[in-house]
Amino acid sequence: MNIKQVGIVGTGQMGLGMAQLLAQQGIKTISVKMTGGDVSTKQTQVEKSLQRLVDREKITEEQRSNTLSLMTITVDLHALRNCDLVIESIVEEMDKKQEIFSQLESIVNDHTILASNTSTLGITELSTAVTRKERLVGLHFFNPATVMKLVEVIPTLHTQQETVDGLVEWINSIGKTPVVVKDETGFIVNRLLTPYIIDAIRSCERGLSGVAEIDTAMKLGCNHPMGPLELADYIGLDIVYHMSSNLYDTFKEPRLTPPPLLKTLFVAEQIGKKSGLGFYDYSTTPPTPRSF
Ligand SMILES: NC(=O)c1ccc[n+]([C@@H]2O[C@H](COP(=O)([O-])OP(=O)(O)OC[C@H]3O[C@@H](n4cnc5c(N)ncnc54)[C@H](O)[C@@H]3O)[C@@H](O)[C@H]2O)c1
Repeated sequence: MNIKQVGIVGTGQMGLGMAQLLAQQGIKTISVKMTGGDVSTKQTQVEKSLQRLVDREKITEEQRSNTLSLMTITVDLHALRNCDLVIESIVEEMDKKQEIFSQLESIVNDHTILASNTSTLGITELSTAVTRKERLVGLHFFNPATVMKLVEVIPTLHTQQETVDGLVEWINSIGKTPVVVKDETGFIVNRLLTPYIIDAIRSCERGLSGVAEIDTAMKLGCNHPMGPLELADYIGLDIVYHMSSNLYDTFKEPRLTPPPLLKTLFVAEQIGKKSGLGFYDYSTTPPTPRSF
């Protein structure tokens, strides 16, 4: 599949991460910041991220400037009109994502593939917002997008097989590993990972042990690179809350309901690393585990 230019809607941790990953692979990217305002902070964020790679001798100065020259950040969705692929990566809420797809359909070319990076939401339900459903697909990258190897590919009953095959080939060509999965809430990874994370939150809530102890136990006892609460903070507790709610809405298993502590942190906007507070306090180095 010949993908020369990719549009990315949303400039959060996943949106910017995917843009950087693709630009590092020589693909031109246009990122759209959907909350308006100044894009310079996002530009600075990307520059710093690439500079860290130069400092660690992972990329050269020339690769850094080539990558930056391939990345555009704007607030104008119309800038995506000539993209071959557009990946939506905004907040994990069905109505907001559907609104974006409906707008995109009237902007992009006939050949443009539309994809969502949703963690759990149904791709078929998202596709009800568009007329040409055969070009919409789920492409689930993982966090951080520049590092994590997996991309879940989620076709709907409408998606053309040719599109799926082309995307699988393209994902391999950018150094990632595709896994095609049925359109069911949570796909593979979050169907299995979310119950584990929310069980860890419930264990913390019930006083089984402290935040640091639960994380240490899973790191040292199971050889996981991160503990479940540290991982929840890294994903973002807003995303974890929505993943849990979406899974419960689909499967109606009581175990999948968001634990009260997760809901409290979500409504308090203490949503993990990106907000500075979550299960850990990120104002210190290393972050301090909190007591609940
Ligand atoms: N965080 C993860 O580990 C992870 C991994 C894979 C996929 N995802 C999925 O990627 C998507 C983005 O997640 P993220 O972690 O980058 O979140 P984030 O909070 O870092 O970014 C969310 C983005 O949505 C934008 N936004 C907020 N309100 C909006 C609105 N009303 N309309 C349009 N845009 C709005 C924000 O400006 C921001 O750019 C979600 O669907 C999430 O489920 C997240």
